[in-house]
Amino acid sequence: MTSRLPVHVKRLVSQEVQELRHRVLWPHKPHPEACVIDIDKAPHAIHLGAFADAGEGWGIDLPNHQGQLVGACSLFDQHCTRVDVPWNEGEGLRLRVMGTLPEVRGWGAGAALIARAAEEVRAQGRVALWCDAREVAFGFYERMGFVFLNDTYDIPDIGPHRTMALDLSSPPHLNL
Ligand SMILES: CC(C)(COP(=O)(O)OP(=O)(O)OC[C@H]1O[C@@H](n2cnc3c(N)ncnc32)[C@H](O)[C@@H]1OP(=O)(O)O)[C@@H](O)C(=O)NCCC(=O)NCCS
Repeated sequence: MTSRLPVHVKRLVSQEVQELRHRVLWPHKPHPEACVIDIDKAPHAIHLGAFADAGEGWGIDLPNHQGQLVGACSLFDQHCTRVDVPWNEGEGLRLRVMGTLPEVRGWGAGAALIARAAEEVRAQGRVALWCDAREVAFGFYERMGFVFLNDTYDIPDIGPHRTMALDLSSPPHLNL
């Protein structure tokens, strides 16, 4: 493991993650307000943001240094229909729109978001965190312990994806 940028992760409202989504995930959309998901405001939706607790001295060029939002993801109570998953409906949470600013990649903000997402899954008594992963992020999710559940498929405008899942049952029993 390399050095970690100190970050703290907290829950946000959906509007607070739109700018980061626009910059990191959907730059082809016209403006941040267009970076919404239909269920962003569902009562079950959880939006997480990672904030840098430092910047200066770490060799990372962050305009606002401390307190800047450097990464975000959202969690939804959605069952995976693309794959016949080895957990029951209601036992997984779906991870979506996960991204960190290019300036901080490799410094641990993504891992901090996944760690918090895993806590949220466990706190709800669920056993799996799953996502439709972009090809560029396969290595990251594998490093976080996710496994592949299917072969590559294409999502128009975005590119190749595979469904991946993290077994959070203890002890692991999903046989992923
Ligand atoms: C994928 C992404 C979220 C990773 O975030 P990050 O902040 O760089 O992640 P971290 O720094 O916490 O990385 C944790 C570990 O994974 C490794 N890692 C990160 N990205 C990786 C990749 N693409 N391939 C292999 N390993 C990777 C890191 O080196 C680090 O390893 P370490 O524990 O040995 O130090 C980020 O690169 C990103 O936002 N990419 C663009 C948007 C995107 O594709 N999002 C995913 C949509 S499904």
